[in-house]
Amino acid sequence: MKIKRNQLCGSLRKSNIGKIVKLNGWINTRRDLGGITFVDLRDRYGIVQVRFDNDLPNNILKIVKQLNMEDVIAVEGKVQMRPSSSINKKISTGEIEVVVKDFEMLSKAKPTPFEIKKRETGSENLRLKYRYLDLRTEQLQKNILIRHEALQSTRKFLSNEKFMEIETPFFIKSTPEGARDFVVPSRENLGKFYALPQSPQTFKQLLMISGFDKYFQIVKCFRDEDLRADRQPEFTQIDIEMSFIDESDIQKVSEKMLKQIFKDTIDKEISLPFPKMTYQEAMEKYGSDSPDTRFEMKIENVEDFAKQTNFKIFHSVIENGGVVRALKVKNSAEFSRKNIDELTELAKRYGAKGLAYVKFKENKFQSGISKFIDERSGKILVDKLNLTDNDLVFFMADKWKVSLIVLGSIRKYLGKKMDLIDKNEISTLWVTDFPLFEYNDEEGHYQSMHHPFTSPNEEDWKYLESNPEKVRSRGYDVVINGQEIGGGSIRIHSREKQNRIFSALNISDEEINRKFGFLLNAFEYGAPPHGGIAFGFDRLVSILAGEDTIREVIAFPKTTTAQSLMIGSPDIIDEKQLKELGLKIEQKK
Ligand code: AMO
Ligand code: AMP
Repeated sequence: MKIKRNQLCGSLRKSNIGKIVKLNGWINTRRDLGGITFVDLRDRYGIVQVRFDNDLPNNILKIVKQLNMEDVIAVEGKVQMRPSSSINKKISTGEIEVVVKDFEMLSKAKPTPFEIKKRETGSENLRLKYRYLDLRTEQLQKNILIRHEALQSTRKFLSNEKFMEIETPFFIKSTPEGARDFVVPSRENLGKFYALPQSPQTFKQLLMISGFDKYFQIVKCFRDEDLRADRQPEFTQIDIEMSFIDESDIQKVSEKMLKQIFKDTIDKEISLPFPKMTYQEAMEKYGSDSPDTRFEMKIENVEDFAKQTNFKIFHSVIENGGVVRALKVKNSAEFSRKNIDELTELAKRYGAKGLAYVKFKENKFQSGISKFIDERSGKILVDKLNLTDNDLVFFMADKWKVSLIVLGSIRKYLGKKMDLIDKNEISTLWVTDFPLFEYNDEEGHYQSMHHPFTSPNEEDWKYLESNPEKVRSRGYDVVINGQEIGGGSIRIHSREKQNRIFSALNISDEEINRKFGFLLNAFEYGAPPHGGIAFGFDRLVSILAGEDTIREVIAFPKTTTAQSLMIGSPDIIDEKQLKELGLKIEQKK
């Protein structure tokens, strides 16, 4: 390399006029105008216009005529003012150009599979295959920079607050966060497997017992679960644990940290303290444990109305201990059959058997279940929901949770579709008082809503065996713009109490000892009261970057089928490797 850069493409200004500079970069665009060739040269700091006049030596001109997009070149030239007609106010270097005196070709580029300056020319799968090219685009360069700044901001903040960053191992044993484990076979210990951590949960608790009273780690976690826009099989957490604290200490430090990150990365102020809402209220009003509070449209209990109607489904659901809830969609009586069918499909995906609706037009109920509504029941509904002309109402009759989750999903969907959300608003929320357990219908037993190390509310220990569903936990989630960004809890720190929880979860003594004996033993050597939280770092960055999926803020993400289209993973391994590990692959039928 003969011409090594002494300036960056984005850094040249009017004050550099007259200087001889050396630049290296990629060709963003090339235009030929009456014998002059203009090239926009790009590096990660910006773009600068470079000008090749036709008095350059012939050998250079010949190569210049053949320059392609994305070729990597080096130029040496003089910074000069652009003619006033070609000044570009949109870019920071738009007032100047560099007139080339010397040139060097550093690397030729084939035509790229999609245009770097127009990402949408490639499908997402194509771009994932050529992720290193996608990462050249302005959008991803910006996102990865925000991610970097968020990482630095987090470390700086927590370190200033006296938290210590401590790494924990990846080759461990199952951590029960509710997903399947990714496992790694051990060659040294044939037939045995490590599990990759779903989180560093047990290790951070052990670190509290070791006396590191303020721990943090920015750490990869691994979960084999169904993937979605906000879930990756490997993702990053900001993991935090503290000793001698209660909920308010964790919440305060979390809020301060988030405030700092928003300030440092996107220069946005968020106000403290965050509002709080119980799980019960979040579910009843918003049909979600991560409600989007940027828009209204709350769910209402309409059982008084339901009982007065002639609609049999409402009656039988209530008789069987279920509930009837309604969602009013203002001024939407013009929704078509097709719109309503779409919403019904959405409802069914969340477990609904059907989705009843009615339109309120010119003081009358029309379509849907209107024929079951008489004057008396109609009046109850109008009063309860404050109905005005052209409102549309959806009804769910089912078990408490299904009814609310379904209406909550419709609410979130309509909020987006009807453009009810102010994209500039950042809404924050703590959700508290979760139930400690939820019943797993498929497997027929209780499971932890968070994880089994979460402490029950002190007053609720008495219900643990008699009425487990009544036990509230000392857990808390942080929700930003309707997304669960983080979650944590005050932990149990005694062997006896931890054992009571495992028993309530129906885990045998043998299994408890095999899986968690190390932690239970540690509780017997002076365990401080402790608690913590973990933030989904990718989700946080996606909010900072204004992206809808976390794939847009991860340098090398996987598809929703857990594959890397770029390196082609997962992949088969050699017979020899299988043999060394004592493994045999059974072909799936
Ligand atoms: P939890 O399981 O709630 O808590 O995880 C914490 C946060 O991590 C994010 N998250 C994910 N992000 C991307 N892809 C995934 N597959 C994924 N799964 C979770 C979410 C979530 O809020 N050990 C506890 C924390 C604690 O108790 O301190 C834990 O891991 O934003
Ligand atoms: P049907 O009498 O079965 O045609 O149902 C009448 C309307 O009630 C349809 O719009 C169904 O989608 C709806 N529906 C059925 N079951 C329920 C339910 N459990 N909750 C709310 N609406 C329902």
